[in-house]
Amino acid sequence: MHEVRPETCSMWNQWLMGRIVAVTNLKGGIGKTTTVVNLSAGMALKGARVLLVDVDAQGNLAMALGVKPRRTLYEVLVDGARVADCLTPARANLDLLAADESLLAAQPTIARRADWPRVLEQALRPARNSYDFIFIDCGGSLTVLNLNALYAASDVVIPTTVEPFSLRGLELQVAQIARVKGGTGGLRAIVPTLFDPRTRQSVELLDQLRARYGALVSAPIRVNVRLSESSAQGRSIYEYDPRSRGAIDYALLVEHLSVLWSFNGASAPAPVFPPREASAPVQPAAPAVAPPPPPAPVVAGSGSVLSATCPNCGRTLLRATVAGYKVSYCDHCRYRRQELASGPRR
Ligand SMILES: Nc1ncnc2c1ncn2[C@@H]1O[C@H](COP(=O)(O)OP(=O)(O)OP(=O)(O)O)[C@@H](O)[C@H]1O
Ligand SMILES: [Mg+2]
Repeated sequence: MHEVRPETCSMWNQWLMGRIVAVTNLKGGIGKTTTVVNLSAGMALKGARVLLVDVDAQGNLAMALGVKPRRTLYEVLVDGARVADCLTPARANLDLLAADESLLAAQPTIARRADWPRVLEQALRPARNSYDFIFIDCGGSLTVLNLNALYAASDVVIPTTVEPFSLRGLELQVAQIARVKGGTGGLRAIVPTLFDPRTRQSVELLDQLRARYGALVSAPIRVNVRLSESSAQGRSIYEYDPRSRGAIDYALLVEHLSVLWSFNGASAPAPVFPPREASAPVQPAAPAVAPPPPPAPVVAGSGSVLSATCPNCGRTLLRATVAGYKVSYCDHCRYRRQELASGPRR
């Protein structure tokens, strides 16, 4: 590999082109793909045009979305095919540039190129005008393509479990981003995943995380078996069980990042929910159970401000209607109050 000087990402065209968001953590199995799927599906439901790029040879994004891609990222990076010719439409507003095990063979080829860190960025450039957001699902190890994702990214989101080893890994990941991109490296959010509020260790470590990284830490995504079931069924959590804790937590993350990124779904030309084109997923994997009815609106309201204040930290509470719940939440601490509108909580 050739050495590349650290460089700050150019933000000059942020308002003209879609954001490229790398979702990364060097640790495996901590909810990166689950976060990418449900964050991007939520943004697409809000009316954003979203492209998902899988740079992990496991190819989990296609499975999690229940699509069977005919062409993949390998052809773009190695054969020079156009991104537009290798897309798999996954949902309304949501396209996938998929990966499979061929990507393993692509990495040594890319690493021999003089411009190896910028191969993905160059490949995505022509597609960037066509999307509001391009989310890159990184693999759980230090690969050429994970580094390419960081170089291409305007924004970085780090999911992390709330465990002692994960927090150490997070330090290393943040340092790596700073090395590659300089400064804060576009790090926009740290998303605690697989959070179990019943264990004291999780709660204490979440507090430590907030003390260390402050407002970068989003509200946590709680452990919810419906999330792993939804991936196995090739559905987003909003399609599979929009009333589950997982749907609520990811919908709140969508709201949080929409505010951060100034993406106002309500101002998009089409209604926020349901999606503006009610197209079915392309070649969905055969579900083991009958498909549920079309998803109910997942989020209404965009973190509107409540007059109530947080009982923990005294800040003004935000409010969203999520999957039939009225949720009042604090953007600063982990306080959250849910009022069940109807139906049981799973
Ligand atoms: N909040 C959650 N509650 C319950 N299960 C979850 C949650 N988040 C993720 N999972 C499950 O944990 C497993 C790992 O998640 P995922 O595949 O998203 O991690 P990853 O970081 O992308 O892994 P890899 O590094 O292998 O790509 C999956 O089975 C997923 O369904
Ligand atoms: Mg993954």
